[in-house]
Amino acid sequence: MPGLTAPSDYAEEPPRHPALRINSKEPFNAEPHRSALVTSYITPVDFFYKRNHGPIPKVEDLSRYSVYISGLVNKPIQLSMADIWALPKYNVTATLQCAGNRRTAMSKVRKVRGVGWDISALGNATWGGAKLSDVLELVGIPKLSSVTSLGGKHVEFVSVDKCKEEKGGPYTASIPLKQATDPDADVLLAYEMNGEVLNRDHGYPLRVVVPGVIGARSVKWLDSINIIEEECQGFFTQKDYKMFPPTVDWDNINWSTRRPQMDFPVQSAICTLEDVDVIKEGKVVAVVLREWIYLLMGVKPGLRLADIRKTTCHMYLMDLRVISGLGFSSRLH
Ligand code: MTE
Repeated sequence: MPGLTAPSDYAEEPPRHPALRINSKEPFNAEPHRSALVTSYITPVDFFYKRNHGPIPKVEDLSRYSVYISGLVNKPIQLSMADIWALPKYNVTATLQCAGNRRTAMSKVRKVRGVGWDISALGNATWGGAKLSDVLELVGIPKLSSVTSLGGKHVEFVSVDKCKEEKGGPYTASIPLKQATDPDADVLLAYEMNGEVLNRDHGYPLRVVVPGVIGARSVKWLDSINIIEEECQGFFTQKDYKMFPPTVDWDNINWSTRRPQMDFPVQSAICTLEDVDVIKEGKVVAVVLREWIYLLMGVKPGLRLADIRKTTCHMYLMDLRVISGLGFSSRLH
């Protein structure tokens, strides 16, 4: 695309914060230390996890950048950044989480493939941009549509990055038209993150943000939007980011038996202690969870936080009283 180009190698990657834990250098996949997730409600851009499948695209000339919207629509259009800036701007605070978050914990139970994420492949940002529902009106699709007059039921987002999994082709994903045209679903074409211009790692100059579903649907470095009949047929929708029961493994997997993953189960994790933190005998350990303090007393030597979760999770919740100030816990088995 004129304006935005995708390098084939990693020679021109952007600078990143040195405190990030790097899970893979090329492509760059990194997450913050878990404590960074609870120090502020909004995750600072530097500490927001970075999930990439290829080298980071570069803007050569923003005035030549545009997004082409076509497919099963009556009037395809090309939108420049100036056209997108001219639309009403919305700020939406939404969490993005990679579907692979906590894979390292899964790999303790079973051999899994993919980037070894700890618990921090998620972040909360305020995204600024135009609503996709407003943009789709420009191609003649009214708000709250489930199907276009030409039979389009899904909205596909196409990027420019060169992904190994797509044999050098771009990253793609789709969402149902119903979600895309619902103004209350807050799907954005975002050009800002936490009040600043989106940076290269997070999709400069324009990315999709789909609140409430796995991060994989929030396509970065947007090149074009296609209105299509079936959901996107790309690798990242059909051959990745799907959930299978334990009976399925890499030898007998049949990808077409499962729908692409969209939403997540609710989960929680302790962010102020590492799984490897060891509690010494007789030592009083204060665990600070936001403004709450829990005290653990007289526990077994060598007990790891992970063991507390596994073996005494119930007691942990029931017996440790939340204290404000000087109270203390009763017991821990
Ligand atoms: N978009 C493109 N073009 N290329 C990618 O590799 N990764 C996806 C999504 N959008 C990806 C992409 C995945 S799997 C996730 S979890 C989010 O972007 C991560 O967004 P972030 O790097 O801004 O945190």
